[in-house]
Amino acid sequence: MKKFNVKKFIEEKIRELKPILNGQKAISATSGGVDSTTATVLVHRVLRDKLKVIFIDDGLMRQDESQFVRDILKNLGIDLIILNKAKYFFKNLKGIIDPEEKRKKFRQTFYEVLGEAVKKYRAKFLIQGTIAADIIETKKGIKTQHNVLEQIGILPEKFGLKIIEPLKDLFKPQVRKVAKELGLPPSIYARMPFPGPGLATRIIGEVTPQKVEIIRKATKIVEEELKNIKKFQAFAVLFSDKATGLSKGKRSFGDIIAIRCVDSEDALRAKPSRINFNKLMRIQKRITTEIPSVVKVLYDITPKPPSTIEYV
Ligand code: XMP
Repeated sequence: MKKFNVKKFIEEKIRELKPILNGQKAISATSGGVDSTTATVLVHRVLRDKLKVIFIDDGLMRQDESQFVRDILKNLGIDLIILNKAKYFFKNLKGIIDPEEKRKKFRQTFYEVLGEAVKKYRAKFLIQGTIAADIIETKKGIKTQHNVLEQIGILPEKFGLKIIEPLKDLFKPQVRKVAKELGLPPSIYARMPFPGPGLATRIIGEVTPQKVEIIRKATKIVEEELKNIKKFQAFAVLFSDKATGLSKGKRSFGDIIAIRCVDSEDALRAKPSRINFNKLMRIQKRITTEIPSVVKVLYDITPKPPSTIEYV
């Protein structure tokens, strides 16, 4: 394979996009992930203030995520519009237990909110952080094939809206290089994957604000403690079942949390990381102390296959 020339890629992409975008309004929804943030910064180089950058706060993000993304973009001269939609997402997800239904409802809600924003800002282009692996996985049926315009309820003929996917020919390591070259910090370009439906995929069963609060705290602890460990992904998962524990000398039914940390190249196969036992004990100690409702902390030792990386 030819060596990837990151500077040349950026130059050529900007040159290619200029006449297409032609100074017209575009909208980009960034989540703070590598792909969407990189696509946003790249297109901002072409459109500047004509690009509206939104962050849909679905209430399912990691702690302080909106401020984190806002500060990073601000450093690059990009304003972030934060749409607070947490209540709406929780309302729509209420009562849903089935994982596929949960993902479907999340997607519907996300595109509904995105569609409203596209209309509000009268955007002519929608910028998407799709990368080559997404397209391959969609074709192989691993990820759901979806037509974004259809999902957001917009007829292209009526709105004249077009989708722009500036990273669609790149794989993740190349996207990380582009991110770095565009001036994004390691906290973005070296960031581990985080699923679109966010913490909703880290809660087995119904998603409620209370459960999200628990898993958000546990996620922060796991990310902090495993910050310096080489891994593909590390996170916490909240079970729907409860287990007996001891609280102030009394038996009580409490929450169960699993820690998942895996090594992988491409997320298609994964192995559990061999974390030092003292490190695991420290995570356990912090979780049960900082989140008193938790009475059990487990470490997941299952590879993919037969497991998947996520639980939902
Ligand atoms: P699984 O659980 O299928 O996950 O082994 C493989 C990789 O994909 C990520 N993942 C998602 N990413 N939207 C995303 O953007 C999703 O709905 C989604 N589900 C899983 C997962 O975190 C892992 O890196």
